[in-house]
Amino acid sequence: MARRIIIFDTTLRDGEQCPGASLTPQEKLEIARQLARLGVDIIEGGFPIASPGDAQAVKRIAQEVKGPVIAALARSLPADIDAAAAALSPAKRRRIHVFLATSPIHRKYKLRKAREEILRQAVWAVKYAKRYARDVEFSPEDASRTEPEFLHKVLEAVIAAGATTVNIPDTVGFAIPDEFGRLIQGISERVRNIDRAVISVHCHNDLGLSVPNSLAAIRNGAGQVECTVNGIGERAGNASLEEIVMSLKIRRDFYRAETGIDTAQITKASRLVSNLTGIVVQPNKAIVGANAFRHESGIHQDGVLKHRATYEIMRPQDVGLGESLLVLGKLSGRHAFAKRLATLGFRLPKDELDRAFARFKDLADKKKQVFDSDLVAIVEDELPAAEETYKLVYVHTTSGSNTVPTATIRLSKQGKETQDAACGDGPVDACYKTIDRMTGISPELLDYSLHSVSKGKDALGEVVVRLRRQGVEVSGRGASTDVIEASAKAYLNAVNKLVSSPARRAYLSRRRTLHP
Ligand code: KIV
Ligand code: ZN
Repeated sequence: MARRIIIFDTTLRDGEQCPGASLTPQEKLEIARQLARLGVDIIEGGFPIASPGDAQAVKRIAQEVKGPVIAALARSLPADIDAAAAALSPAKRRRIHVFLATSPIHRKYKLRKAREEILRQAVWAVKYAKRYARDVEFSPEDASRTEPEFLHKVLEAVIAAGATTVNIPDTVGFAIPDEFGRLIQGISERVRNIDRAVISVHCHNDLGLSVPNSLAAIRNGAGQVECTVNGIGERAGNASLEEIVMSLKIRRDFYRAETGIDTAQITKASRLVSNLTGIVVQPNKAIVGANAFRHESGIHQDGVLKHRATYEIMRPQDVGLGESLLVLGKLSGRHAFAKRLATLGFRLPKDELDRAFARFKDLADKKKQVFDSDLVAIVEDELPAAEETYKLVYVHTTSGSNTVPTATIRLSKQGKETQDAACGDGPVDACYKTIDRMTGISPELLDYSLHSVSKGKDALGEVVVRLRRQGVEVSGRGASTDVIEASAKAYLNAVNKLVSSPARRAYLSRRRTLHP
């Protein structure tokens, strides 16, 4: 019989620690809803002591997202645990996740505490968290570099104090699969009360081994894995949810383990996380990369046409890629449009649906075939921004080998329209210079990426940009059949986030300093 592995998703906490990936509470809520549809068992919504915005995000998720357990992170300190408990209070099922570093290097240089002190503080933190929640997880940070005997002692003590899950983080991505598997096996064999807690693992990807380490841990007794959508996270990221889940599914014969994930929701979760964080998925990324199901070589194409299994170990549909499906055309009505969106997981309020439908009609006029991915891009483009201070009314550019690239842009701000023009190194640069002049801010452009959302020369182009101003990094995205318009929209989307409110700016910069 297959063992059921608990999927603990930390996209909204550790994933959000990815440079440039800050999310607003509204964006976190949107992702949390998709994580619930995906079927994760636990959503770690954030680190409430880090900022009022993070506390608010956890609270809204706790109030509105039904199904998964909602977790919040806390250091082993009273104020942290109080903040996590307060944010989680509306949740029907809640978990407080406390952590304290145990490795010699962290004890000596970061905490300046002896083993006995660490042991006492860990036990105290679990007991304190138990006053608020029955479900308490304890993480000995940097566990993979902790002396095994001391690690066992800490685990035994926190379980005796009431920890229901003990999580073994490979905080710096130092472990290798055989060794990490043995560490988990040692815990199963030597921690005397381990039968009273679930063993979890939390692996970072510094050596590209986060997924192999997580899988080795599962083979050796771990019952929970902590992971993120698209593998985003601190530095090189965390173990990727989709890679772990699909490995267990496709190699069930080997692992004899299963998860509660609805794998058909994976692509949608991946796209949403990528769009809202601005972290683009590399094309060759396993499971969710643009090339993951593309066969380029003639020999492979011929094989797949003869029998799919010659070169495909899973079907695109298994991960929710229904790309070959032509869904709607220019004669499709509003009802069919709304129904298709509902199938894709979007239920929009009337005004957003009206706007999205108008965009769809416009696109269907320009493009013969409208795919699911086009619809998703339209809807995500229509989702309300943090605060839409500036709206793009019109963009016109001239460029060519013998002309100076120039952009003319019309923006509306609180109903008042203004227009300006500027030259640049290319049409996109000219647009950005014009917008900078009009908004009076000149953020640094950290990243610009353009990709086509579906197939064909007439496909929608989607642009994602990352901007930085006064220490605050934001992402912005925009989609259009015209890549210059998509570029202007993406830039403006990010600028709107930068200028939205001083409180939001303070929230974003404060988050950077408190995260573990
Ligand atoms: O990587 C890590 O050690 C963490 C802990 C807070 C669980 O993220
Ligand atoms: Zn981590």
